[in-house]
Amino acid sequence: MRLNLPSIIVLTWGVVGGLCAWPNGPLVTSGRWIHNSLGQNVTYAGVNWPGAADVMIPEGLQYASIASIVSGIKSLGMNAIRLTFAIEMIDDIYNGGDVTLATAFNKALGTTNGPVVYNKVLKNNPSFSASTTRLQVYDAIAAECLKQEIYVHLDNHMSKGGWCCSTTDGNAWFGDTYFNVANWKRGLEYMVTHGKSWGNLMSIGMRNELRTPSDNTTLTNNYYNWDNWYTNMVAASKIINTANSNILIFFSGLNFDTTLTPIVAGTNLGSSVYFNKTSFPYWDKMVLELHDYENSVSSCSTLQSDLTGNGFSTLSGTQTNTMPMVVTEWGHDQTDGSYTGVYASCLHSYLPAQHVGWMIWVLAGSYYIRSGTQDYDETWGLYNHNWSAWRSTAAVANLQSMVSATLAS
Ligand SMILES: *[C@@H]1O[C@H](CO)[C@@H](O)[C@H](O)[C@H]1NC(C)=O
Ligand SMILES: *[C@@H]1O[C@H](CO)[C@@H](O)[C@H](O)[C@H]1NC(C)=O
Ligand SMILES: *[C@@H]1O[C@H](CO)[C@@H](O)[C@H](O)[C@H]1NC(C)=O
Ligand SMILES: *[C@@H]1O[C@H](CO)[C@@H](O)[C@H](O)[C@H]1NC(C)=O
Repeated sequence: MRLNLPSIIVLTWGVVGGLCAWPNGPLVTSGRWIHNSLGQNVTYAGVNWPGAADVMIPEGLQYASIASIVSGIKSLGMNAIRLTFAIEMIDDIYNGGDVTLATAFNKALGTTNGPVVYNKVLKNNPSFSASTTRLQVYDAIAAECLKQEIYVHLDNHMSKGGWCCSTTDGNAWFGDTYFNVANWKRGLEYMVTHGKSWGNLMSIGMRNELRTPSDNTTLTNNYYNWDNWYTNMVAASKIINTANSNILIFFSGLNFDTTLTPIVAGTNLGSSVYFNKTSFPYWDKMVLELHDYENSVSSCSTLQSDLTGNGFSTLSGTQTNTMPMVVTEWGHDQTDGSYTGVYASCLHSYLPAQHVGWMIWVLAGSYYIRSGTQDYDETWGLYNHNWSAWRSTAAVANLQSMVSATLAS
C-alpha cells in the first residue's frame, strides 16, 4: 500500500482544526437510522421550547437566563431541543426588519405589561440590550446549546404567531387565512440559511400539525388531502435542501400530525401521485415526524398498534419507504400522576425499544401569553411557573431514565 502523505496531513489538520468535533454533522439518514459524520447512530431525546406564540420570542426569559434553562435541559441528559418559530417573524424581517424585544413585548402584552416583562428579560439575560431583536434571541439560544452540546431542531409551528393549534385558527392548512404558502416557503428558506452559522442546526420540521381548516369548506373539501400535501411539502423540501443541503428535513402528516400512513406505504395519494423516497436526490435527508397525545389510551398494545399503523411501520423495512421516525411531540400533565399512567409508561419503554427519537411537550413552565392570558401557567411544563425548578421532581426523574434508555441504544 502506498503511503498517502497528503491525506494524513489533511486528516491531522481535520482533528486539530476541530472538524471531527461535536456535533459531527451533517446528519444523514441510512434506512431507518440517523447517522452523524462518524457513521454513528444519532437518536434525539429532547424537549420542545416554544417560541411561536404572539411575542415570537422563545419562552421563559423573563424568569431565567438562556444559560440556566439550557443547563436544566442538559442536566436531564437530553441532546436536542425543538425550537419553534412563527413565519410572521420572517415576514416582519422582509417588511422593514426584525423588531426589538421591547417592541415585540409591547405589541403582544400591551404598553403596561410589555415593558415590565421586557425589563425582566434584560435582567436575566444581560447580554441583551435595547437593540436586540427576536432573531438574535434564537441566535443566543443556539449558541448556548452549541456550548452545551445540544442539537437544535427548528420547527415552523405557526404562520401568524399565536398558540397552536385549532382547526379554526387560520393556520391549519396551505392557503388558510394566515397560511400564505409563498411566505411559508420564504420563511423556511430564511431560517435554514440563517441557521447555517449556528453550527448545531441539524434539522427542521417544515410545518407543525397540519389539520382540517374547518371554517373554510372550500379549502377543506378541495385541498385538505394528501395530493395537496405532496405538492406543498415536496416543493418546500426542495427549497430547504437548496438553501442548506446539510440539514435533515422532517415531514409531518395530516390530522395534527397523527398519520403518515400513505407516505410510508407509498400508495396512491389521490391523482396517481406516490411518495417515493428514492426518487428524491436528497433522500438521505428525509425524516418522518409524528405526534402522539393518546393520553387516555387503555393499553400499551393499543398505543403501539396505533403508532405502527400511523407511520411507525416505516421502521420495519417492509414498507415502500423506510425512513427514520421521530415523535416530535408527546406529553402529559406534570402536576399529577400522569407519568405513571398507561400512555406515558408505554411511550417510556416503547420509544427507546424502537430506537425512536422524541421531544416531549413542553419545557415551558409558563408563557408570556397564551390565547389571550398573560403569564399563563403551563401544567404540562417540565419547569414550574417561574422556570426555577422542575414542576414535578418525580415525573422528571422518570423522564430522565427515558432519556438514558433512548441514548443508551
Ligand atoms: C444503530 O443501532 C442499532 C440498534 O442498536 C444497531 O443494530 C446498529 O448497528 C447501529 N448502527 C450503527 C452504525 O452503530
Ligand atoms: C378559503 O380559502 C381559500 C383559499 O385560500 C380562499 O380563497 C377563500 O377566500 C377562503 N374562504 C373563506 C370563506 O375564508
Ligand atoms: C422510486 O423511484 C426510483 C428512482 O427514481 C425508481 O427506480 C423506483 O422504481 C421508484 N419506485 C416506485 C415504487 O415507483
Ligand atoms: C419560583 O417559584 C417557586 C415555587 O412556586 C418559589 O418557591 C420561588 O420563590 C419562586 N422564585 C422566585 C424568584 O420568584
